[in-house]
Amino acid sequence: MTSNKTEDFCTLVPIGIEHLRFVHENMNDNRLVDTYPVTIPYSADEAEQYIINEIKQRGIGNRYAFIIKYNDVFAGLCALYDVDRNMKSAKLYYWIAVKFWNRGVATEAVKKIKDYAFNSFNIQQLQTGVLVRNTASVKVLKKCGFVIDKEILNTGQYHDKFIDHRFYEMSTCKDSILTYI
Ligand SMILES: CC(C)(COP(=O)(O)OP(=O)(O)OC[C@H]1O[C@@H](n2cnc3c(N)ncnc32)[C@H](O)[C@@H]1OP(=O)(O)O)[C@@H](O)C(=O)NCCC(=O)NCCS
Repeated sequence: MTSNKTEDFCTLVPIGIEHLRFVHENMNDNRLVDTYPVTIPYSADEAEQYIINEIKQRGIGNRYAFIIKYNDVFAGLCALYDVDRNMKSAKLYYWIAVKFWNRGVATEAVKKIKDYAFNSFNIQQLQTGVLVRNTASVKVLKKCGFVIDKEILNTGQYHDKFIDHRFYEMSTCKDSILTYI
């Protein structure tokens, strides 16, 4: 859509309490939470608890959340969770602040966090669930080498918020030949 796309405009920085205002303000947007498992109003306390938990889980080695900077401005968030070094697998989630949509930010950030997972933890498979109606996100994932493994009806395995919605389970493997099409 928008043409302002270059290859290296995104950087990922580990989430910290200094990102509280960014997370709190941008999450309170109906357009964002339409496909994201948070209900609004989303309080500053909830945002703070979320960040504190991500920092704690990073210390334990379960989760790795990053703020996405776009040309040095906070633009979104992406994270690995359920990092399982024995199974060599991890899961992924992400969101982009609405004012930065359609500039290629999610695509670039997902490529970066995928490389991070594969290269830093020897993860072999990265998985995610995405609402079937979330066309933009499905497109992002396909551009980053993810394929649809199956389509399921969410009966609770994902989020309570989207019970009875259809999800794709998508994944990409380290040696996939479908990367970065
Ligand atoms: C989904 C989301 C992450 C995409 O972020 P983004 O930075 O805008 O994504 P990108 O710009 O990298 O790519 C989006 C692609 O989808 C396309 N797109 C956007 N809206 C679309 C729509 N309604 N229908 C079809 N394609 C659409 C864009 O044109 C772009 O494709 P292109 O590169 O071929 O032009 C963002 O919309 C978001 O944060 N949504 C709310 C939270 C969410 O859904 N998170 C993901 C949960 S799995």
